[in-house]
Amino acid sequence: MKNVADFLSIADLSTDQFWSWLERAKALKEAWRAGGNQPILAGKSLALLFQKPSLRTRVSFEMGMTQLGGYAFYLSPQEIRLGERESVADVARVISGYVDGVMARVFDHQHLLELSKYASIPIINGLSDFNHPCQVFSDLFTLYEHWHWADLRGKHLVYVGDGNNVAHSLLYGCSKVGMDVTISSPPGYEVRPDVVAEALAQARRMGSKVNLEPDPQRAVAGADAIYTDVWTSMGQEEEQQTRKQVFPPYQVNESLVEASGNPDVVVLHCLPAHRGEEITDAVADGPHSLLFPQAHNRLHGQKAILAELLG
Ligand code: CP
Ligand code: NVA
Repeated sequence: MKNVADFLSIADLSTDQFWSWLERAKALKEAWRAGGNQPILAGKSLALLFQKPSLRTRVSFEMGMTQLGGYAFYLSPQEIRLGERESVADVARVISGYVDGVMARVFDHQHLLELSKYASIPIINGLSDFNHPCQVFSDLFTLYEHWHWADLRGKHLVYVGDGNNVAHSLLYGCSKVGMDVTISSPPGYEVRPDVVAEALAQARRMGSKVNLEPDPQRAVAGADAIYTDVWTSMGQEEEQQTRKQVFPPYQVNESLVEASGNPDVVVLHCLPAHRGEEITDAVADGPHSLLFPQAHNRLHGQKAILAELLG
């Protein structure tokens, strides 16, 4: 049993822990705005290990470490070749002697579990086929900020699109803070039933709801936030043509936003966006869009995660 904490899934945090991390993100963002953060991670180092491309995750983690006085460096998919050049266990054992933490973006979530098992340092999930916890932690921070630091309970987030890694983390994240969450996916592309069951159990404890509603128009009725993501995730490229046939009814366009019936509804997308597919330009660049503050908050959310795990 390792004696350091990882961040592999929002499901692993208690509601109190999750809230204390959100408050930490708020304090770090306020300090950053007021002139800069204290070098609380001076002397600490973070390896950024990527099996897939990235803009936001790579740059925000790297800058986050720099702003906290630490050091981060990027390892491209060609360098480590996790599980190919050598075993995941040996990568974990070796890198534990060099750095204070690893952020890894992997295809197979099992590789993160293995890294975690054999490393003696914190492992942070920078996206796997299963979930994307740093994304959704920062997204809930964005909503907390947008709604003027009010409790998130009672708010309703509707995710429209593929039942993918981001949807799984949204189920965990929203239920963790007692937000109602609805997932609207086409048949055959739903979220995993075990994740729904876990989120439902958590929602019951919080007095909130988890719904599955395949009809996107019905799903968004009364939404406070509408969230979407690409139809084809990294690693699924060979399914792209089929998916392009299935997903058009799930496009977040002006008419779907209007179907929420909420003039203050906000729209989120983890990005990168395939504009004209899952989201239109009119929505991405329109008055309801939080897309860019959301992307920018990856920096502040992840600084809180780094401060908690490496501080
Ligand atoms: N949202 C997100 O994780 O973006 P990148 O793939 O660019 O890191
Ligand atoms: N679901 C997308 C998210 C990208 C940040 C993917 O896995 O490619």
